[in-house]
Amino acid sequence: MIPGMPGDSLVYLNGEFTRADQAKISVLDRGFIFGDGIYEVVPAYRGKAFRMAEHFKRLERSLAAIRIPMPMDRAALTAVIDRLIASAAGPACIVYLQITRGVYKRDHAFPAQPITPTVFAMVTPLVLPSAKQREQGVAVVSIEDERWLHCEIKSVSLLGNVLARQQAVEAGVDEVIQYRDGLLTEGSSSNIWVVRDGKLLAPPKNNLILEGIRYGLMAELAEEAGVSFEARPIPRAEVESADEVLVTSATKEVLPVTRIDGKPVGDGKPGPVYRLLRAGYDARIAAL
Ligand code: PDD
Repeated sequence: MIPGMPGDSLVYLNGEFTRADQAKISVLDRGFIFGDGIYEVVPAYRGKAFRMAEHFKRLERSLAAIRIPMPMDRAALTAVIDRLIASAAGPACIVYLQITRGVYKRDHAFPAQPITPTVFAMVTPLVLPSAKQREQGVAVVSIEDERWLHCEIKSVSLLGNVLARQQAVEAGVDEVIQYRDGLLTEGSSSNIWVVRDGKLLAPPKNNLILEGIRYGLMAELAEEAGVSFEARPIPRAEVESADEVLVTSATKEVLPVTRIDGKPVGDGKPGPVYRLLRAGYDARIAAL
């Protein structure tokens, strides 16, 4: 029994496909003991993975950053991901892929001898943003970013993100907006965008944010739509007085943020830049 998830859904673990409720890892897996691993979340529509090449690049960057060797080549991983996607019902799904350093006696330092990384993948339905979220936007609360200084690594050590997201749940909103030293970073599990005077702004790609797969995509969509884009530090005051604020992630896709800390963003309604970028995003999905 897995609370909240069907036990018979297909998962992949270390070379084998099995039911989710049958897959078992060692209690000494370093992912379990230390959060010593990385992950990816890949959306798929109508049986096709979205932006797979970009996910591979980020996966390889994350592995390199924490010095875990790539345990499988792209072709083998693609075969796993495709089989999971093919097993999923419904129009859209999410593949979760996790690679940890592997199993060894508990010791903070890397194992003294080479060990085999643990590779796990599962598929779950993608609950698409609702019509209400798309048409009326979502609400967020702002909080201090208390996470570590390597947010660019898609690490499974997510306690800071977990505690941040719980603050959103307890405030009855969809997400948080985090600030570090008065500058915008990102959501608990999403990137945040600001529109001022028709221009799209994002915090720079550095160690303080995860470069979402939608980061590069939004820049492309902005260019196609004739919206200028700039990555630069964004002070809190510029977020609070923005014309529009947007949130992006694999699961949120692109959504307008229309309330921050109970106050309306701009006129409190989704704005024109959101509409252009949302249309571009939908067109990319349709063209898959
Ligand atoms: N989270 N920033 C953080 C901290 C994230 O966890 C995510 C994604 C993003 C957006 O990245 P992308 O566009 O690649 O989804 C930004 C995923 C969805 C998750 O942890 O479930």
